[in-house]
Amino acid sequence: MPGPGRKSLDTARDDGRLSQNLSLDPRCYWDNSFFELEVKTLFRHSWVSIGRFDQVPNQGDYLALEVAGIPLIITRDDAGNLHALANSCRHRGTQLLKAGRGHCQRLTCPFHGWSYALDGALMSAPKMSGAVAFDLADYPLQRIPIAVRAGFIFVDPLGQAGDIDEWLGDFEAVHTPWQLSRLLTGYDTSLVVECNWKAFLEVFNEYYHLRKVHPHSFSLYYDTPDPGEQVRGNFATQFGDHHGERSVAKVSDGSKPLPMFPGLKGRNKNGTRYTWVFPGLAFAASSDALWSFGVEPLSPERTRVTMAVCFAPEVTQQADFAERFAPYHQRMQEGLEEDLEVLQRQQRGLTSPLARPGPYAPLLEDSVRRFHVWLGARVAMPS
Ligand code: FES
Ligand SMILES: [Fe+2]
Repeated sequence: MPGPGRKSLDTARDDGRLSQNLSLDPRCYWDNSFFELEVKTLFRHSWVSIGRFDQVPNQGDYLALEVAGIPLIITRDDAGNLHALANSCRHRGTQLLKAGRGHCQRLTCPFHGWSYALDGALMSAPKMSGAVAFDLADYPLQRIPIAVRAGFIFVDPLGQAGDIDEWLGDFEAVHTPWQLSRLLTGYDTSLVVECNWKAFLEVFNEYYHLRKVHPHSFSLYYDTPDPGEQVRGNFATQFGDHHGERSVAKVSDGSKPLPMFPGLKGRNKNGTRYTWVFPGLAFAASSDALWSFGVEPLSPERTRVTMAVCFAPEVTQQADFAERFAPYHQRMQEGLEEDLEVLQRQQRGLTSPLARPGPYAPLLEDSVRRFHVWLGARVAMPS
C-alpha cells in the first residue's frame, strides 16, 4: 500500500507521469499479487519467445518447459513442423515429460501408458477398448499456437494473443539486415538470477549503466545511441554505433573477430541493435553475433534466464569455432557478472518501503520507459 503522502501508480498515470518520465512503482518488482497478475494476465496472453528454432533442430526432438506456469512440450514432427502441446495427459492429467530437452518418437504417459504422436494425436491407450464411446481421436494433447519469426520460437500459451504478425508488427522488417532467421546457436545456457524478471531485461536494454557497471568494456565502445524507434508492434528497439573495436561482442584479447554477418551495410556494420520483444525476450544484434536472453519469471524475486549466442552458419561450422568463440564467451560472462551484482543491489533497494519511482535518463533508458508504458497499459498497477 502507498505510504503516507505517497501517490498510487494509478494516480501517477492519471496525471501523466508514467507516460512521461517516471519509472514503475517499486512494488512491481517484489509484490506477490502483482507478480501473479503479470504471469496470468500478461505472459499468458502474449506471444512469448521460448528459444531459437535450432534448439529443437531435428525430427523427434523435444523441449519440455514451463511458460507462464503452464507445462508445455515443444516437438518437431516427421515433416519438420513444430508443435506446442500441453504437457498434461488427456487421461488424468499427468505430466508426460520432465523439463529438459530430448528425443523420442512417441510421448508416453508414465502413469497408465497413453501414448501420443509428436503432433499430439493420441495413438494408443492400453485396455480402453471396452470404454463407452471412447475414440482415440477425441483425446489429442491440447495444442497451442506456435510460430517462428526471425529464428525465434514464439508460443501463445492460452491461444488468445491473436495473429503473431499483428503482435510483432514491424519486428521482422526492422531486423531484416541481420538475417536473424538463418543464424545458428553457437552456445546456450540457462541460469536462475535473484531479481525480478523486469529488472533483468531492463538492464540489458539501457545504456545509462554502462559507464558505472561496465567501465572497461561496453562503455568504451558505445556512442550515444539513436533515439528509440517509433515502431508498430509489441517491441522496443534502439540502435547504437560503436567505436574503437571491430567487434564489441568479444573481449579485446588481440584475437581476430569472427566474420561479419554477410550483407550488412552502412552503420549496421559498426553498430548494435538492442531489441526488447515484450514481455520476455531481449537481444542484441551486432555485426558478428546475436545475443539473446529469454526470461521465465519464477517468483517476484527469482527469474530463470535462457541465453543464446548465435552466429552465421558458416561460422559455427568452422573447425576452430570453439576456440574462436572463447573471447566471445568471456565477454558474455564478464558482462553478465557485472550486471548481476548491480541487479542484486537494485532488487534489495527496491524492496525497501522507502523506495520510490524515479525519472528516466533521456535517450539512454528509452526502451525501459517504453516497456513501462506498455506494461502500464496492460496490467493494473499496485494501489
Ligand atoms: S494419466 Fe496419463 S495415462 Fe493415465
Ligand atoms: Fe549491462
